[in-house]
Amino acid sequence: MRKKIVAGNWKMNTLLKDGMELAKAVEKLEKEKTSDALVIIAPPFTHLSRVKELIENVKLSAQDCAYEASGAFTGEVSPGMLVSTGVEYVIIGHSERRIFYNEGNELLNKKVKLALSEGLKPIFCCGEVLEQREAGKLFDVIREQLEVGLKDLSTVEINEVVIAYEPVWAIGTGVVATPDQAQEMHKFIRDLVVELFDEQVAENMTLLYGGSCKPSNASELFANPDVDGGLIGGASLKAEDFLAIVNAY
Ligand code: PGA
Repeated sequence: MRKKIVAGNWKMNTLLKDGMELAKAVEKLEKEKTSDALVIIAPPFTHLSRVKELIENVKLSAQDCAYEASGAFTGEVSPGMLVSTGVEYVIIGHSERRIFYNEGNELLNKKVKLALSEGLKPIFCCGEVLEQREAGKLFDVIREQLEVGLKDLSTVEINEVVIAYEPVWAIGTGVVATPDQAQEMHKFIRDLVVELFDEQVAENMTLLYGGSCKPSNASELFANPDVDGGLIGGASLKAEDFLAIVNAY
């Protein structure tokens, strides 16, 4: 059975105290939710172990991880460290990492493999920039991101992966993909997963949409057969808005 997921990517927002308040509020509203979607939050690294103590039903994700398990990598946080603080998921390949920190598909593949080997479930992001869409290259871009990023995963491993389609032109811009644009790409991604893995993997794969998803547009996006939830940025910083998106299911 395909899992429905709504995940909140807090990005580089909230000081510890505010983050703890937000986590508490999300946990409280989660208990009253009217949908069966799994709720995940991805606070900054510094908050993870404290937030973990405040949540029960809500699952914990990191926003990134290192591509090496340990050693002389100043400033990096390894998947093993994340697991040791109670983290279950990790966002890998967010467009902000790809664009601001030059993370390419090969490097992201190393992160995915290491995260899986340490027991984390990757939320693997893909998405095209506006120029690529306008030039008609959007499907080629997504194909390459997924072909390389998810290369050489076993069936057991790929079954732990969640894919998030986040058109870069929709992230934080207020411009949301239309339900048809989202469905078109999600269908393409599911077909690609059949090609790269198999029918069963694709059928079970949770595909999230991300990019200016809000309480007002979530239900029409989630109504698409190949959209299995959302990766929410800005609207995840208010517990009421975030849970309104969860309840849009
Ligand atoms: P947004 O961000 O909801 O603020 O557009 C989504 C994301 O980057 O994950």
